[in-house]
Amino acid sequence: MRVIFQPTAEMVGTWAARYAARRIRDAKPTAKRPFVLGLPTGSSPLGMYKELIRLNKRGKISFANVVTFNMDEYVGLDPDHPQSYHRFMWDNFFGHIDIKAGNVNILNGLAKDLERECERYEEKMRDRGGIDLFVGGIGEDGHLAFNEPGSSLQSRTRLKTLTEDTRKVNARFFGGDIEKVPKLALTVGVGTVMDSDEVLILVMGYHKSRALQKLVEEGVNHMWTSSILQLHRHAIIVADMESAHELKVGTYNYFRSVESAHFDPDTILKG
Ligand code: GLP
Repeated sequence: MRVIFQPTAEMVGTWAARYAARRIRDAKPTAKRPFVLGLPTGSSPLGMYKELIRLNKRGKISFANVVTFNMDEYVGLDPDHPQSYHRFMWDNFFGHIDIKAGNVNILNGLAKDLERECERYEEKMRDRGGIDLFVGGIGEDGHLAFNEPGSSLQSRTRLKTLTEDTRKVNARFFGGDIEKVPKLALTVGVGTVMDSDEVLILVMGYHKSRALQKLVEEGVNHMWTSSILQLHRHAIIVADMESAHELKVGTYNYFRSVESAHFDPDTILKG
């Protein structure tokens, strides 16, 4: 696992955008062999989306041959509902880049047969050759996508009940009213994320510092589902200084020193 510290939340977003852009460019995707990108919603990826839009508009990166799969979607919200993840993705990202609508995949929380919808999603990912890079955030309780504490660490895409904690945290997007937050969601599983070639997780803010500490310093534990990333072949955590608050000074210094030897992707995609 690589852990990269950035001074501010904004810089986490910029770093992640440039990293993802470099991965896509290096893969030289074509219509036949597209780059397959897993994507999150929430506040964590907003800065990354902003920077990717900027790089796209400047001609530094194209999404014409990129296929995306979103992590999760609420059950029961119309795709046009202001808080649906469909709407979030089109408003904050897809609507501003050169991606083809047919290459965008988001779980359908209105499907008649939700179980079949989840199987279909997994099949589609497999048909596309799996996810090249899965970008994600984590919840305050360490959840990955909507894989709440206690989720199977081998889980696949499925229907999940949201915890009261998560609904409380997400109530801010529903005018502060927890009753308006759906109780169910479709989400990729922990195992689905683990199958991707590479995972990039964005962590920012004091409120995530406990989750980051569990993820980086403690053992793999189903109560902090993102801790499974310790077993991933290629996991990168990009964290701001606020979220590093609970880490030991030694842990921080260690990852800083390892990173000082790494190539910085910023150098090729500036501007
Ligand atoms: C939600 C999403 C997660 C996301 C998490 C953190 O519960 N299902 O995918 O990582 O919230 O959200 P934020 O980035 O807004 O803190």
